Amino acid sequence: MQLAELIELKALEDERGYLLPLEADGAEVPFPVKRVYFMYGMPDDKERGKHAHRDTRQLLVCVHGAVTIDCDFGRGLPIRHFRLDSPTKGLLLGGLVWREMRDFSPGTVIAVLADEHYSEAAPKEIRNYEEFLSHAREEA
Ligand code: TYD
Repeated sequence: MQLAELIELKALEDERGYLLPLEADGAEVPFPVKRVYFMYGMPDDKERGKHAHRDTRQLLVCVHGAVTIDCDFGRGLPIRHFRLDSPTKGLLLGGLVWREMRDFSPGTVIAVLADEHYSEAAPKEIRNYEEFLSHAREEA
């Protein structure tokens, strides 16, 4: 898996609307899913994220609305900006990536599928930007 990759998800449409299937360990989600969480109710002037994961793989899908996700890889690489404005755009994150979510449109709902459980006791997120840069340098 790349550090960050935009993938196209296929929605099935008929006269009743759309259905967008995601097969774990399959074409759309290239890892076993251990956790799913949703983010919603974001005010448009707030940001979320601002952390990196050591090695958690995730698929982010903006189920409704739109969000911009800035992906900072450290390692001297340019920051990439992804605008998720359709459920058919999935953002795969595959490693040490500092992510920030901003510019939510009203009513935005984001689904995140992850390959690891969340542990409050032993969080795997890196929330200090300098610490992230130092880990990214080690991986460069
Ligand atoms: P946080 O990581 O701050 O959200 P964001 O990535 O959008 O900035 O998480 C908010 C709260 O939810 C925090 O108390 C941790 C908790 N949480 C869980 O209990 N399970 C989870 O899977 C996640 C991602 C967060």
